[in-house]
Amino acid sequence: MSEIAKFELDGKTYEFPVIEGTENEKAIDISTLRGKSGYITIDPGFKNTGSTQSAITFLDGEEGILRYRGYPIEQLAEQASFTEVAYLLIYGELPSQEKLASFQNSITKHTLVHEDMKQFFEAYPAKAHPMGVLASMVCSLSTFYPESLDPNRSPESKDTTIHRLIAKLPTLAAWSYKNAIRHPFMYPKNDLDYCSNFMHMMFAMPTEEYQIDPVVSSALNKLLILHADHEQNCSTATTRIVGSSQVNLYAAIAAGITALWGPLHGGANQAVIEMLEKIDADGGDVDKWVLKAKDKDDSFRLMGFGHRVYKNFDPRATIIKKACDDILEKMGIEDPLLDIAKKLEKVALEDDYFIARNLYPNVDFYSGIIYRALGIPTEMFTVMFAIGRLPGWIAQWKEMIEGGEPIGRPRQVYTGATKRDYVPLSKR
Ligand code: ACO
Repeated sequence: MSEIAKFELDGKTYEFPVIEGTENEKAIDISTLRGKSGYITIDPGFKNTGSTQSAITFLDGEEGILRYRGYPIEQLAEQASFTEVAYLLIYGELPSQEKLASFQNSITKHTLVHEDMKQFFEAYPAKAHPMGVLASMVCSLSTFYPESLDPNRSPESKDTTIHRLIAKLPTLAAWSYKNAIRHPFMYPKNDLDYCSNFMHMMFAMPTEEYQIDPVVSSALNKLLILHADHEQNCSTATTRIVGSSQVNLYAAIAAGITALWGPLHGGANQAVIEMLEKIDADGGDVDKWVLKAKDKDDSFRLMGFGHRVYKNFDPRATIIKKACDDILEKMGIEDPLLDIAKKLEKVALEDDYFIARNLYPNVDFYSGIIYRALGIPTEMFTVMFAIGRLPGWIAQWKEMIEGGEPIGRPRQVYTGATKRDYVPLSKR
């Protein structure tokens, strides 16, 4: 028999069903609460509120577990390709060889962006942050594909939009970088795999041959897989809620990109490197910066530390830390920021403040150091995260739209002025 949650309010007892997920996660279904009692719940930051039931990603913050569609992140990061993981997230199962080939083929066909979009890039100042450019460009794609405006038009049309997005995001991302440094845009090369093609568009020049380093594209493949989904985080919840208004997928993904940009979310990878550079320039006194992070009168936080759901360790950080050591060794790079990062991690992990609050390095603590080793400029780090997260956003949007979820519309407890009469300007 399923469990029932009971609670008392104003002398009355209310009953609500308890629902249980496939990994025994339990939730009280309060969807009838207001109708029955007139009350709503309040939970700023949604720390205890599930917004949906989802079959895509399982995460256990206490145990440090992350699985996409049941497959452990460690196995996927080690053995799969990013496009294979994208297929898994979006369509629910690992693809057969034929299905993967057809998916990759469709993505390859759509890598070019409309020539008119080049003019949009040229209108941005060289100092434009690439995340701002990327979000606008992704929203602009909707203007070239009016048939995508109805997200429910047909399954084929939905698939075409999904494939276009996965295909074009690396092109738009690389071009936002080329534009910032005022270098000529490099067109995609469709004989390259997804990650190598991105590196080509980022770093090749029309004047010379560019050799893709397999170490680099394999590291990139791993990083993108690690970022591909993370259940109901800020940008994913944003994508689902914006998409729930039945706006087109390009617009919903553009909203996800802007949510990701913030330093408390995906923007942390850029913020970590900037913080490590600051500590380095300040003489490398890690203890001083740990003290600053603990001081409640100081707004400084250790970027790359802490997570809303991981309270033991972030499994992605464990994989990334190892990958970081491997890549720096393979590429023969010595990065002073890595030493500072390691010192900082050690000091913080032994400090009572961080222990008491379960603050551990998150995925972004080491990802920036790898991106630096791959030659990716700091301002592009969050763009890299967006490329990785795209399949997750799409999968979550698809689940939401195909599940017929209602428009997302939270309630509030009003705390403003009660009714008062308007005073004409002349009498104020
Ligand atoms: N440095 C110092 N103190 C911290 C940090 C930090 N990085 N993170 C949290 N704390 C402290 C808070 O001050 C608070 O202390 P208090 O209880 O004495 O008031 C306590 O730990 C809990 O912090 P909250 O902000 O309430 O935790 P929340 O779950 O809301 O925030 C977040 C999580 C946003 C990730 C936070 O830890 C943070 O700001 N970290 C730094 C930014 C970062 O790395 N973000 C990337 C997250 S991963 C991602 O999005 C991909």
